[in-house]
Amino acid sequence: MKVRLSKPHIDKKDIDAVVEVLKSGTLSLGPKLQEFKTAFAKYIGTKHAVAVNSGTSGLHLIVKSMGIKKGDEVITTPFSFVASSNAILFEGAKVVFVDIEKTTYNIDPKEIEKAITPKTKAILVVHVFGQTADMTAIMKIAKKHNLKVIEDACEAIGALHKGKKAGTFGDAAVFAFYPNKQMTTGEGGMIVTNDENIATLSKSYKNQGRDTMAWLGHSRIGYNYRLDEMSCALGIQQLKKINKILKMREAVAKKYIKILGKNKDVILPTVLKTNKESWFVFVIQLKDGINRQGVIEYMKEKGIATNIYFPAIHLQEFYKRDHGFKEGHFPITEAISKRTLALPFFSELTQKEINYVCKTLTEAIKLNKK
Ligand SMILES: Cc1ncc(COP(=O)(O)O)c(C=O)c1O
Repeated sequence: MKVRLSKPHIDKKDIDAVVEVLKSGTLSLGPKLQEFKTAFAKYIGTKHAVAVNSGTSGLHLIVKSMGIKKGDEVITTPFSFVASSNAILFEGAKVVFVDIEKTTYNIDPKEIEKAITPKTKAILVVHVFGQTADMTAIMKIAKKHNLKVIEDACEAIGALHKGKKAGTFGDAAVFAFYPNKQMTTGEGGMIVTNDENIATLSKSYKNQGRDTMAWLGHSRIGYNYRLDEMSCALGIQQLKKINKILKMREAVAKKYIKILGKNKDVILPTVLKTNKESWFVFVIQLKDGINRQGVIEYMKEKGIATNIYFPAIHLQEFYKRDHGFKEGHFPITEAISKRTLALPFFSELTQKEINYVCKTLTEAIKLNKK
């Protein structure tokens, strides 16, 4: 049996919608873009949505639209996908990492407060694996110190904190639609915000610095971060079934929890009572004394894909070389990132596949205990 790590949830309506765009002759900057961003803003509950060609582009444009620049500091987490802190570096600002909570793997609010200096401009929060960070505490700190808040909600569409949706807490947020995400547009992302200025500037920056309809009029330096019509058409269809997809993913997570709950060598994900997780990945921790690489290789031999979500960002080669980070700087992140393992996870994963993954994992652990 072969089991993939992730798989997009694509049906006939998705395929028909993309084909319809191809037949229409309007492949960029057309009606699907308008429809997608309007529907997305409505789903999240923000005034504005700006479609972009990736989550990374979205993060970059928020940082830039906030005027964050060289000399400024932004506090963020080292336990994330590298794009979240790279977005700060793109604009020449300083990345200030702080460590995470052991339970949720999200940025620890207590550490944030200790890292604030007169140069701090913003907190870039990541809702890791689809569980929101402690936005109650983080928004309190931001208000007290007059800091902007950026939510990297790339992994957290539909997630809730105290009943409120991820992406509605900070000044602006980004969602991402790479094919391993809960919903996909192939490549793609969406900025959401209630801030008129961030919306207007992001819209201009993503479209070569244009402000008006004059195609060759450029008010500022910009980029081509636009999302094409085929992607938008797919996004519209995916968004229509997002609640169904999230329910299916939750059911898969529950099946894993039921079986792996009995495995004493595995630490399961913790979802806090205040939160409703939008299951992006299913990441376990292997207890100390288990050779993770050996487990990965055994699973691979048996046809099962797994991955090491996330390696610590501060220990990536260029963060160490160019930004002075070292092993030992963020002990909780480092300890957790050495033990985590993402198992195959997608909406249509069957009970038979889940059983096979869990059984093989048990064998793999037995063979790799030191
Ligand atoms: C936390 C986080 N931030 C940013 C990104 C970047 O999104 P994209 O791959 O669409 O650029 C991702 C996607 O993998 C992510 O998981």
